[in-house]
Amino acid sequence: VAARIGIVGASGYGGAELLRLLAGHGGVEVAVVAAHAQAGAPVASLFPNLGGLDADRTFDDVDVDRLVDLDLVFLSTPHGPAVELGATLLEAGVPTIDLSAAFRLPADDFATWYGEPHPRPDLTPAVYGLTEYARDAVASADLVANPGCYVTTALLGLLPLADAIEPGTVVVDGKSGTSGAGRAVSDRLHATHVAGGVNAYGSPTHRHTREIETGLAAFAPDLGAVSFTPHLLPVARGLLTTSYATLRDGVGADDVQGALVDRYRDEPFVHVLAPGAFPTTKAVLGSNGCQLSAVVDPRTGRVTVVAVTDNLGKGAAGQALQNANLRLGLPETAGLTAIGVYP
Ligand SMILES: NC(=O)c1ccc[n+]([C@@H]2O[C@H](COP(=O)([O-])OP(=O)(O)OC[C@H]3O[C@@H](n4cnc5c(N)ncnc54)[C@H](OP(=O)(O)O)[C@@H]3O)[C@@H](O)[C@H]2O)c1
Repeated sequence: VAARIGIVGASGYGGAELLRLLAGHGGVEVAVVAAHAQAGAPVASLFPNLGGLDADRTFDDVDVDRLVDLDLVFLSTPHGPAVELGATLLEAGVPTIDLSAAFRLPADDFATWYGEPHPRPDLTPAVYGLTEYARDAVASADLVANPGCYVTTALLGLLPLADAIEPGTVVVDGKSGTSGAGRAVSDRLHATHVAGGVNAYGSPTHRHTREIETGLAAFAPDLGAVSFTPHLLPVARGLLTTSYATLRDGVGADDVQGALVDRYRDEPFVHVLAPGAFPTTKAVLGSNGCQLSAVVDPRTGRVTVVAVTDNLGKGAAGQALQNANLRLGLPETAGLTAIGVYP
């Protein structure tokens, strides 16, 4: 019997990407596609690519009584509603993968970086679902905090090198397509503002800064404070991080390449390129892939790691499905075997 799953926030970009991926999964039944303002609207009215699946399907209301009967729920809403729904589903014993920031940080960090006390400090942080580093924990977790898109991409590049890096020297430059900010329109996301240019924003207090720091410390030696500046690219999808750090004395280019290759040799979704071959966001569009490469500059003693994901793929829905597969005891790659769309 196929697992019955639900998506709350199915009318958002992350939720719709889950629907697209689940259409190619085969092992689950999507029983609930819940929306908020869009409840009752046809799915295809927002997402024309989904119109061929089930032409008459409309978005459901968020009905907790229906959600608690499911085998697994994805929450792909803003963090406010996700705290409430996550707590309810946890109490009901329904495994939940939360794509929002509701349960990623300890309560005190959440209060500092999100400017509000965490409503359920007893429940946060949940199991942090950077899959390649948390398989066992995810497989038995009742609540998974799916990492942010910038954070996933930066961490996959930096974590294998953490032992080789001087603490306090990490700088991350992130660049995201506009879908990273969700479906809602605003002046900052208007095509007129975004098209034909690149914009920095959010530094030095962007919320993902703290998530990069805690994510590094969770899986590797604490590397201290990180400088992070995100940028908005004039593309719909794609995420690229360029991370710089000072290497410890005696660490060279071969050590760096060796650490990356060793760590990801058996990983289905993370691919290490040769030094000097820089990844492009286009290589991973529509996929759950991450490509990365590193170079070492002997003049500065610094390593530069460039990593790419699709912000809606490995940066959101793809990784969420990877985690759900683990939690449901299904093959980890189910629904995720497509490679990037290129050109
Ligand atoms: N976009 C990305 O690349 C990305 C990457 C990683 C993580 N995330 C995180 O994933 C979550 C979803 O992101 P998104 O980009 O998909 O956002 P989005 O496009 O703005 O969609 C938000 C979704 O949440 C629903 N929603 C809003 N308020 C709600 C409420 N009170 N109760 C229930 N549902 C509510 C919306 O429904 P209606 O539209 O029907 O009102 C919509 O379906 C966010 O927490 C985001 O930070 C996004």
